[in-house]
Amino acid sequence: MKNLVVLSGAGMSAESGIRTFRDMGGLWEEYDVMEVASPQAWQRNPELVMRFYNERRKQLFEAEPNEGHKGLAELEKHFNVHIVTQNVDDLHERAGSSQVLHLHGELKKARSTANPNLVYTLDKWELKIGDTCELGSQLRPHIVWFGEPVDKIMDAALICQNADIFVVVGTSLNVYPAAGLIDYVPSESPVFLIDPNDVPANKSVYYIKEKASSGIKKLAGILREKYN
Ligand code: OAD
Repeated sequence: MKNLVVLSGAGMSAESGIRTFRDMGGLWEEYDVMEVASPQAWQRNPELVMRFYNERRKQLFEAEPNEGHKGLAELEKHFNVHIVTQNVDDLHERAGSSQVLHLHGELKKARSTANPNLVYTLDKWELKIGDTCELGSQLRPHIVWFGEPVDKIMDAALICQNADIFVVVGTSLNVYPAAGLIDYVPSESPVFLIDPNDVPANKSVYYIKEKASSGIKKLAGILREKYN
């Protein structure tokens, strides 16, 4: 089976009702990123940071995978599919994708502020000041905040280096190091870019200018013709 690697971003989950960050009406229009998604914000105002992620988590518990997520899961019948996602939701997994790497953390997990290896899966949306790990230290959202290292970037780069087909979907390619992963893709491997808006990719791409759901359906059709 050929290796098909997907780099997904917030637009992937937009049709599930989850807000993107930089579109009109996106989260970073309403919030100052450094006030809610940085280690400094956590030190200054942990309640505000908790509330921001609690709201996101509450919505995630009510959201469902969309046709795009399901379409990518279906591709596992024909390809060895690896999904590298910037998204902190679990919609790829819930749609049935089996190899998902979360670059920026996971909303449904919390981790200890004393020992980052102590990570817990949450079964409810609310995380509170006073919720502690087994060592008695405060739990924080298991999210990579701005200014924090992206620990999984080298694992992701290795996956991208082995891509026979690369698909970019629903990301504005604004945030590094994630946006730089496209540079690891072998030059002979085709790159498909699915997004309803223009995204500058400094590489030659096959553009599918559609939303994730219809774009992934179209992609599956193209791949069927090319590789079956
Ligand atoms: P952005 O909000 O920057 O970009 C979303 C992209 O999705 C844009 O290119 C939109 O055109 C596209 N889009 C919108 N609706 C879509 C749809 N229905 N189908 C497909 N595409 C659609 O989100 P990201 O690129 O994911 O990090 O942002 C990267 C990182 O910045 C996030 O992981 C987050 C944020 O700050 C952290 O919080 C650490």
